[in-house]
Amino acid sequence: MITPHHAVTGAFGYSGKYITQRLLDRGETVMTLTNSVHRANPFGDRIAVSPFHFDEPDKLAQSLEGVKVLYNTYWVRFNSRWFQHNEAVRQTLTLFAAAKRAGVERIVHVSITNPSIDSPLDYFRGKAELEQALIDSGLSYAILRPTVLFGKEDILINNIAWTLRHLPVFGVFGDGQYRLQPIYVEDLAALAVESGQRRQNEIIQAIGPETFTYRELAQAIGRRIGVERPIISLPPELGYWAGWLLGQLVNDVMITREEIKGLMADLLYVDAPPAGRTRLTDWVQAHADTLGRRYTSELARRRDRLSAYASN
Ligand SMILES: NC(=O)c1ccc[n+]([C@@H]2O[C@H](COP(=O)([O-])OP(=O)(O)OC[C@H]3O[C@@H](n4cnc5c(N)ncnc54)[C@H](OP(=O)(O)O)[C@@H]3O)[C@@H](O)[C@H]2O)c1
Repeated sequence: MITPHHAVTGAFGYSGKYITQRLLDRGETVMTLTNSVHRANPFGDRIAVSPFHFDEPDKLAQSLEGVKVLYNTYWVRFNSRWFQHNEAVRQTLTLFAAAKRAGVERIVHVSITNPSIDSPLDYFRGKAELEQALIDSGLSYAILRPTVLFGKEDILINNIAWTLRHLPVFGVFGDGQYRLQPIYVEDLAALAVESGQRRQNEIIQAIGPETFTYRELAQAIGRRIGVERPIISLPPELGYWAGWLLGQLVNDVMITREEIKGLMADLLYVDAPPAGRTRLTDWVQAHADTLGRRYTSELARRRDRLSAYASN
């Protein structure tokens, strides 16, 4: 196989899969770095596959030789006994250093809205540390800062729909007035691939065209899937325990205290023009028959490294 010019982390996962497909559609050559080398995927032998080799930086650098652009989606969603943000930060720093050694020209890095080095939340602080490290690396970079993604393999939007379908009421944490600006995964992938063509340093607020409060988001989804439930305010700690209980039933971590704090601190909102065009409301309407029929589990994706991500 000829040396690929593009490396995408997690091509058999969620956003990485869409980025990879777009690159292939443009006729580009692609390799992936992944923890799940044998996961079912639509690419077959059209892409090269390599494990991350985080503990063998030389091997990692070797696997990136000849690559011009690295698209990095690697991250862990929450701290748990199986994986930690600080570990993901350390591993990503190893990845950036290996990319530099291998002569990669540009890194397109997927981050989050409102990262902050002073944040008490490991997610937002870890993302800020990585952004700073990339800026200081001397490599050309594009940093994409999405809020929540939506698309067929999505978790949050699907599981809001699942909860609406299965419970007689829908609970929001506190007043539910904190905001989100969901972006369609295809729009994020388009931004990533476009910014991979450029060489100027840039930070893009990768937000969608609609802004919802959390309460409005639940209402909008419910209306479109035809399951309108009363939306009730819960004290955040009670909401956490309700999520914990549901998580026990589906063998997953449904939501963490940190995620609730991030939501309630309005960290999934930025005052910026939209970068994505697809409206969540239109997409939910188009997928009203299937959205939320099945629960989507984060932990199932980590336990089972052979099956493709479940899609709704
Ligand atoms: N999904 C969202 O709603 C959302 C919202 C805002 C920001 N983001 C950001 O977007 C980026 C991509 O998110 P995504 O949802 O598209 O991720 P994803 O495809 O599920 O995962 C991306 C990569 O991280 C690896 N990974 C994820 N969790 C892991 C764990 N617990 N242990 C080990 N490896 C793990 C995956 O491993 P494999 O190689 O095994 O697949 C894959 O290589 C992330 O940086 C995330 O912070 C996502």
